[in-house]
Amino acid sequence: MTEIPSSSYKLTPELDKPLKISEVALRNNDTCAERYTSEAYAQKEWRKVWMKTWNVAGMSYHVAEPGETITMNLGKESIICVRGDDNVIRAFYNSCPHRGTRITEEGESFVNQFSCPYHGWQFDLKGVNILAPNDEDFPQGSPCGKARLKEIQCRDLFGFIWINMDPDTNSLEDFLGNVITTDLASYNIPDTIRVLNMTADSPCNWKIITDNFNEAYHVQVLHPGLIPYIEANYKACQFDTLPEGHNRGWFPSHNPSILQEGEEVAEHLAEIMRQWSLDPDAFHGKENHSKIRHALQQSKRELGEEKGYKHYKNYASYQFTDYVIYNIFPNTVMSIGPDGVQLLRPRPHPSGDPQRCLFDHWWMVHPVKGVKTTPSPAGGPDLPVQDCEYEHVMYGEKSLGTTADEDLSIAKMQQEGLNSSGFQGFYLPHQERRVQHFHEVLNDYMNAE
Ligand code: FES
Ligand SMILES: [Fe+2]
Repeated sequence: MTEIPSSSYKLTPELDKPLKISEVALRNNDTCAERYTSEAYAQKEWRKVWMKTWNVAGMSYHVAEPGETITMNLGKESIICVRGDDNVIRAFYNSCPHRGTRITEEGESFVNQFSCPYHGWQFDLKGVNILAPNDEDFPQGSPCGKARLKEIQCRDLFGFIWINMDPDTNSLEDFLGNVITTDLASYNIPDTIRVLNMTADSPCNWKIITDNFNEAYHVQVLHPGLIPYIEANYKACQFDTLPEGHNRGWFPSHNPSILQEGEEVAEHLAEIMRQWSLDPDAFHGKENHSKIRHALQQSKRELGEEKGYKHYKNYASYQFTDYVIYNIFPNTVMSIGPDGVQLLRPRPHPSGDPQRCLFDHWWMVHPVKGVKTTPSPAGGPDLPVQDCEYEHVMYGEKSLGTTADEDLSIAKMQQEGLNSSGFQGFYLPHQERRVQHFHEVLNDYMNAE
């Protein structure tokens, strides 16, 4: 297969799979258990990784108007993003310059100005103090017009607000690189609506979750329920380690895996086929299964726009059917399918405990005229296609969906096993090289000056 450098990567309509990128040469570094268990490692990681990388704070459409804010918590930190009266989106540490109190709570809100709940200092949307009670009583001069919230880097790109605490950071585009910026731009994510927003307080290090999404080796064992819809055999998939430190995995989908036994087309897939004017009975039998995906692509290309699937415009063939998973270093995992984006993201725990994390599950869908609900990736009833409420649960308290529950159940067991004196380091097959790449990139950040 021809490999190309990521700099010449582009998407064209006829592509049946993503272009293959020249992969990163791996060094076969050992992967120590401390990175999952040690408080000292986590503290260094905070400075070397979390304060140096771009992270998603929220959805752009939540800060569409001046005064709209998003407050995002990341580990011990909290960040406020707000659109100013000048239409610029800014981000600030959520810490009052009087005596440090947090000013806003996690989530979305609207403000005319920020008011600290402790002594009532107020700040305009540029973070500048505009009111302080008894402002004549400051020997060093009134804080009005002088004291300000500390600003950090902030960008609005691909429908997300991104933040970075490093004042000297690279641009977000350079950080993401050509492959990821090209792909994310092609999915029209700014048009989506977030219909699921859940966080589960989970009993594992955040990297156990990113590792899990960096390999599909476990799918055939842990998620047999996916086999009727998604390719689970590594030889038929494509994995890319990207030079900017991120990874990508491509899975031909809307097609039974070659691992599937039996002649039947699963009902869920049959229902989608009928929706696109295909007769599932015509594809009965194993020899016909491999034709389903192309038939769906063709049908969606022909009928999509008239059915209201406006986001299909300019899709490459594979994008009509397939799932592509993007692992953006360190923790932004996006699984993107034809009709929406799942964000599957672990965040370091606010307590600083390296053996816990917060696991976010967002589902953003493209609105289609006349379609009022969407199947929930978190299980349970279909979700209304509208901006949703936030839900925070403890691990085990409530289902996050069959697949995510299966992943989380094993995450706890892996964390426990990594605490064992018997852990001997990883023993990885080639198809798990995205895991190895992630850890080598992590080592590079940890060892950087
Ligand atoms: S700490 Fe914010 S006004 Fe005092
Ligand atoms: Fe999984």
